[in-house]
Amino acid sequence: MTSVNDIRSTFLDYFARNGHEVVASSPLVPRNDPTLMFTNAGMVQFKNVFTGLEKRPYNRATTSQKCVRAGGKHNDLDNVGFTARHLTFFEMLGNFSFGDYFKAEAIEFAWTLVTKEFGLPADKLLVTVYHTDDEAAEYWKKVAGFSDDRIIRIPTSDNFWTMGDTGPCGPCSEIFIDRGEHIWGGPPGSAEEDGDRFLEFWNLVFMQYEQAEDGSTEPLPRPSIDTGMGLERMASILQGVDSVFETDMFDHIIDAAASAIGKGPTAETVASYRVIADHLRSMAFLVAEGVLPANEGRGYVLRRIMRRAMRHATLLGTSGPTIFKLVPALVREMGQAYPELVQGEAMISETIRLEEERFLKTLSRGLQILEDETAGLGEGDTLAGETAFKLYDTYGFPLDLTQDALRTRGITVEQSGFDTAMAAQKAEARKNWAGSGEAATSAVWFEIAEKHGATEFLGYETESSDGAIVALVKDGQAVDALKAGEEGFVVLNQTPFYGESGGQVGDTGTVAGEGSRAEVLDTTKQPGGVYAHRVRVAEGSLAVGDALTLSVDHARRTAIRANHSATHLLHEALREVLGSHVAQKGSLVAPDRLRFDFSHTKPMSEAELKDVERMANAIVLQNAPVETRLMAVDDAIEAGAMALFGEKYGDEVRVVSMGTALEGSRAGKTYSMELCGGTHVKRTGEIGLVTIIQETSVAAGVRRVEALTADGARAYLEEQDAQLRAVAAALKVTPRDAVSRVEALIEERRQLERQLADARQKLAMGGSGAPGGAAAEEINGLTFLGRVVEGLQPKDLRGLVDQGKKQVGSGIVAIVGVTEDGKAGIAVGVSEDLTGKVSAVDLVRLGSGALGGKGGGGRPDMAQAGGPDGSKAADAIAAIRAQLAGA
Ligand code: ALA
Repeated sequence: MTSVNDIRSTFLDYFARNGHEVVASSPLVPRNDPTLMFTNAGMVQFKNVFTGLEKRPYNRATTSQKCVRAGGKHNDLDNVGFTARHLTFFEMLGNFSFGDYFKAEAIEFAWTLVTKEFGLPADKLLVTVYHTDDEAAEYWKKVAGFSDDRIIRIPTSDNFWTMGDTGPCGPCSEIFIDRGEHIWGGPPGSAEEDGDRFLEFWNLVFMQYEQAEDGSTEPLPRPSIDTGMGLERMASILQGVDSVFETDMFDHIIDAAASAIGKGPTAETVASYRVIADHLRSMAFLVAEGVLPANEGRGYVLRRIMRRAMRHATLLGTSGPTIFKLVPALVREMGQAYPELVQGEAMISETIRLEEERFLKTLSRGLQILEDETAGLGEGDTLAGETAFKLYDTYGFPLDLTQDALRTRGITVEQSGFDTAMAAQKAEARKNWAGSGEAATSAVWFEIAEKHGATEFLGYETESSDGAIVALVKDGQAVDALKAGEEGFVVLNQTPFYGESGGQVGDTGTVAGEGSRAEVLDTTKQPGGVYAHRVRVAEGSLAVGDALTLSVDHARRTAIRANHSATHLLHEALREVLGSHVAQKGSLVAPDRLRFDFSHTKPMSEAELKDVERMANAIVLQNAPVETRLMAVDDAIEAGAMALFGEKYGDEVRVVSMGTALEGSRAGKTYSMELCGGTHVKRTGEIGLVTIIQETSVAAGVRRVEALTADGARAYLEEQDAQLRAVAAALKVTPRDAVSRVEALIEERRQLERQLADARQKLAMGGSGAPGGAAAEEINGLTFLGRVVEGLQPKDLRGLVDQGKKQVGSGIVAIVGVTEDGKAGIAVGVSEDLTGKVSAVDLVRLGSGALGGKGGGGRPDMAQAGGPDGSKAADAIAAIRAQLAGA
């Protein structure tokens, strides 16, 4: 049997042999198109190559491209399970020529591959061409030898392929196989063409035009080729089965579903198994790319796919989460070709299980209501739109789930009633915010949110993408354009720019359109999930509706990511080292540093800081993958994820985990697990190094550590090292000996200071041979010794006074010390026998007054004071002298 994997490689090898570059599948969330919800064809990644905007080093390429057709122009969601060929997720095999070969060669390549490599019987094949495309018809005649009746001319858009509302397009030619009379259906163009007998498996598009928004077309610079073969369809043909769901890959997934559900498909239930198998692939690939179930945008399409599958699982009699159990089977089938499935397996399973748990809470109640409301209805009847809205709003039933549920009974939903109810709910929400007081400043953002919905954030997965401008704001008002030199805010339908939140600063970078360019100075998150890019227009002007290429400053974001992940590691390390009372009180994650505030009552010791640093760096060295999961808040907290107390979280939260604890009570378990919406490194090794540079107090009971990572840490340590080397050089020792040398110098200096003070004292008190020796004088019958000593510290005053007192026996001693910086201190001593007459305190106050100071204190026999003005030292002595003279 030719397996799906064989077919993929046969196709790619064939075109590689024919000069085509084998290019990897691009992501399902297109980076280069602002309008496309999901990659819906192989040509999407080459869109700009066709139009000439982008150059590649090759002009022939071949791919196996993952595609999702659910939502948007190409939407097969409703058909899945009910036909033998429609899928929401499929692989498209394609060959591309960028202005190289055209129709003739494309048809020849296709014919050879199909008949020679795949060995399909020529007599069972037929083709369509666009009704005016005589050229293509001629080539088919020549290459395949087809008669006119096997070249069907189709006048409709079926044979004019466009990617979306805009983009490259052209007439196309589709190849069909007749699978035999046992299957219902007619050839293309006939009344029975929707049947499965004639299966289209390859579409050759002759890319010639680019379609603009107004529907007009321009010729492409050079005619090109874009083809798309449904891999699963080709597998069904080569494996001789009637439907894509009977091919090897689906067979295995459906087997897994049967064992998870406890019974296999029957004629009545097979459609449900098929829906589950198809939807499983879509959801797994989308989640692997970071799309998570949400109530808007891509996340909502994913949620619709998931819930639709879940209803079908319920129809098969399941009552608990089931679909997540099929993930391993899918990974077995497709993991080799798509390693993202292997890598994301845990995240995929968990995201699906959570969505199942969430929806199962309301699903059966909703189904009951649906049954009650439609009890009296039959074929051709409609369900009131209001009921469908209630199912949507209260029970989480996407509209297409309700439609799907009623489809087999021929009942439709009254769409207008649904829309009216939805509009009424929005109006109510508007009334609420209008009265909330916050309205005045936020009104413009609320209005944008209401009109255009939340901005879709692509920045977990990519740093660049295209986006369409949905609104511009200048000075608090919506405007139509921002011109060169102006500053304002740009709102786009999607963006890779992170909006400041959770301590992480907003991204900066550039946005550029045709002839326009603007610097993004900052990005913030506004009410309603609107991302506001603050820009300065550098060139041209930006207008609402423009498509822009958005590029986040890569180096800056890389540094931010490392700092954010390091913050998580420090948080955990602080808890380990200081205790579980450590709780986050605030944080700043900037490109050049990180700051983390936490509850702790006393300064950290050097040893504690080193321990924290060592632990964080041990996880860096693990180079452990950083995993993100979407969880229900309660589950996340129960699983041990750290959350900010008092923070308002949505129902679902992102949980970021990294590393394995090496020591302590949690050894072997996940090291760090936190609720976090920020952007992180892929592996902890990217953090490089964590260095704490400071630990300070910010408020009572709140400490702050500041740290650097990666290049910042390295630059800091380099600087520290340079300083140490400079110090060592100045000391004329090696860096290793610098500390002991400095210690020795300090000790030496202490001794010298002591010696100097002694010498000064001796000098001041007229020690042996001192010039101007300290002779005491007689004033009013009292012995007075008054001295000014330069370079004397206040602490040495008392000792000197005591010495003086000993020298005079009975008398008064006053010493004024003048420090090197010109300030003064004064101490006065009075011998015991005289304290009844003279108070040291009074005298010192007098002296201090003369020195420009105030007060002073002590006892009657010893008092001390200071004064700012050392130049008045002699005046202080004179004042005391005068006082004694007058006493
Ligand atoms: N882009 C073409 C398609 O998707 C080949 O059918």
